Amino acid sequence: MGEKLDLGDRRITYQDVLDLDSREVPKHLREESRGDFDFHEASIDRYVSREWHEAEKKHLWRRVWQFACREEHIPEVGDHIVYEIAGASYVVIRSAPDTIRAYPNACLHRGRQLKQYAGRCAEIRCPFHGITWHLDGTLKRIPAPWEFEHVDPERFQLPQCEVGTWAGFVFINPDPDAGPLESYLGDLVDQFSVWFAAERYVEAHVSKVIRANWKVAQEAFMECWHAPATHPQTVPYAAFGACQVDVYDNFARFITPSEVVGPMMPWDPTTEEMLRSTMDVRMDEELPVTPAPDETARQFIVRGTREKWRGLVGEQVEQWSDADLVDNFTYTVFPNMMPWGGVHKIVYRFRPNGDDHRTSIMEVFLVAPFTGERPPPAREVVLGPDDPFASAGLGILGNVLDQDCANMEKVQFGLESAHKRTVTFASYQENNLKWMHRLMDRYVRMDGE
Ligand code: FES
Ligand SMILES: [Fe+2]
Repeated sequence: MGEKLDLGDRRITYQDVLDLDSREVPKHLREESRGDFDFHEASIDRYVSREWHEAEKKHLWRRVWQFACREEHIPEVGDHIVYEIAGASYVVIRSAPDTIRAYPNACLHRGRQLKQYAGRCAEIRCPFHGITWHLDGTLKRIPAPWEFEHVDPERFQLPQCEVGTWAGFVFINPDPDAGPLESYLGDLVDQFSVWFAAERYVEAHVSKVIRANWKVAQEAFMECWHAPATHPQTVPYAAFGACQVDVYDNFARFITPSEVVGPMMPWDPTTEEMLRSTMDVRMDEELPVTPAPDETARQFIVRGTREKWRGLVGEQVEQWSDADLVDNFTYTVFPNMMPWGGVHKIVYRFRPNGDDHRTSIMEVFLVAPFTGERPPPAREVVLGPDDPFASAGLGILGNVLDQDCANMEKVQFGLESAHKRTVTFASYQENNLKWMHRLMDRYVRMDGE
């Protein structure tokens, strides 16, 4: 049978699930951080109005830490990528073996974009008139120096953004007065320390244009009590409605217990039914695995995952709790990065699609541990708005994402024609959304306010 706990009339919580664990669970999983919210509504202007988008451009994207690329995208000196956000563009470049810098992608002469593509270079040379900078941003050469005697070469350096790294992710903050990334991330680093103990690489990278504001797209992943309606095939094996929802300063998380029966599951499934659902095996096909007699679905999945990860991270996997190996830890790093903890490989990123507030770009990175030599990062698969994720080689995840995507543009259309001018959030399961909007309020001030 499924792992159904006898709790009387009380609904199951994640803390009840942790009580089942065969190991000591990480302290941070035992600690709840519910936050304190005195509102349940947000204005739909945030998703539909051009003014909000303009205010985000000015007050959010130019002032906030944001995930730009992975370190492995720029492994050698001179390697660079072009990172674009809401109509702004930045060059992120490895300027020395241990130094990554980021510059606004604009020439100091007459503003031409310095780089249009990712690549490798020995210097940063503007294609228009050829003024050239060293990789560290200092001026190297002006083709007609007598024309620029009024320019102080010392001060004609490329302006720098702040740069920080965490777990192989490169972050930039265009605000030169931003504090360090480390204090921005706070306890996140500690919470991921076991999960990301082994180095990872980009196993897959898929981007897709979504016909909805970037927050509509992202918020589709910031709670999961939509699963019984949107992903009914997942309900037998994930305890939706029993998630633990925690908010911190600049990050938030919700934890969905896996392989236990949740309060939104209308009957008590057998171990076999749970495993069929987990592995997407139809009733008329043979289940390709055999759990031990009396083994619960949770015990069975934990056993298999522990063995699989032993090969990747070695004997330290013995310290990992069952929870680390089976549950879903969905984090949001404000504003737009969603790394999953545990043995999951998923990292989402959401951005406005160029300068358009009614469409967005959703990216899926799978970051996986590896053995032996670091494999090269996967090339980005670019999907248009009508291309399904299922076509991009993401396995079962692709099908689930397509179910989520089917809601997004319908949400946008709904919001555009709504008479009620607010969205109304659930009291607990949507606390991550409330946290997001409260932080947005701290950054985004409408002009005139
Ligand atoms: S615009 Fe860059 S050198 Fe002229
Ligand atoms: Fe979903």
